[in-house]
Amino acid sequence: MPQKDPSLTDIVNDPLSNLDEWEKDVLSRYPDPASIAQNKTTGEFRNYVEPPRDTVKEFYRLNHTYQSYDFVQKKKKEFLQFNKREMPIWNAFDFLNELVDDSDPDTDLDQMQHLLQTSEAIRNDGHPDWMVLVGLIHDMGKVLCLFGEPQWAVVGDTFPVGCAFSDKIVYPEFFTANPDFDNTAYNTKYGIYEPNCGLRNVQLSWGHDEYVYHMMKDFIPEEGLYMLRFHSFYAQHRENAYEHLMDGHDREMFKWVKLFNPYDLYSKNPNQKSWEELKPYYQELVAKYLPVTLKF
Ligand SMILES: [Fe+2]
Ligand SMILES: [Fe+2]
Repeated sequence: MPQKDPSLTDIVNDPLSNLDEWEKDVLSRYPDPASIAQNKTTGEFRNYVEPPRDTVKEFYRLNHTYQSYDFVQKKKKEFLQFNKREMPIWNAFDFLNELVDDSDPDTDLDQMQHLLQTSEAIRNDGHPDWMVLVGLIHDMGKVLCLFGEPQWAVVGDTFPVGCAFSDKIVYPEFFTANPDFDNTAYNTKYGIYEPNCGLRNVQLSWGHDEYVYHMMKDFIPEEGLYMLRFHSFYAQHRENAYEHLMDGHDREMFKWVKLFNPYDLYSKNPNQKSWEELKPYYQELVAKYLPVTLKF
């Protein structure tokens, strides 16, 4: 039987060699349709169906065991006061870059490169400038690691808490160890929510998405805020597993979430301009929407 008594070793355990391992696993679950078409002819398609590494599985075991309704409330209380530190966004990017483990031969992009690849692909496709900014900042919530948060409370697919966990969420079997799994207040289809109550009334598992959404709430148009808050909510934006909690407004806004997702997953331009070249544009863009310093 799964262990329901959280042990401290579990809670501080970081099974991934770095946060990119989670993103690579997402990519293996949702491969780029363009690459599949290309690789089918070269026989490399099998790369996409390799079983995920044990580290990823262990990461999800921890995530699904500890992301309970009470845990989310505790983390919101702790982090949404934004009283930890104040710094220019550029300092946060510097920190994100330190998250890369250089010893991992598999890591091809540092965090800043991933952010720039995403934002530049959005810019090249002629989308509004606030969406370019969303590309640049969408993973900035990973600075939670700066405050010693474990990986399973920073990254990973997100999902609603306070109602039944969908079996469309990756590794659903690990939810049996979550304290909410047997709690009759939380384990029915709607749990504490009303049918189609709208996602603004729904609590999502805690991580970099929810954190950056709250940080940017006053600065970015709503479409962009949806992209920030729900970019790891694969159970909905890819699997439509929580349609019953969404209202008409969410459905409209999710067009933007779905528009954003391929930029996050598949933007890899080998001829990316250097940061030095791009810097003036992004400095101006950040200054247009964001204050000089941000509260973390
Ligand atoms: Fe992300
Ligand atoms: Fe990302």
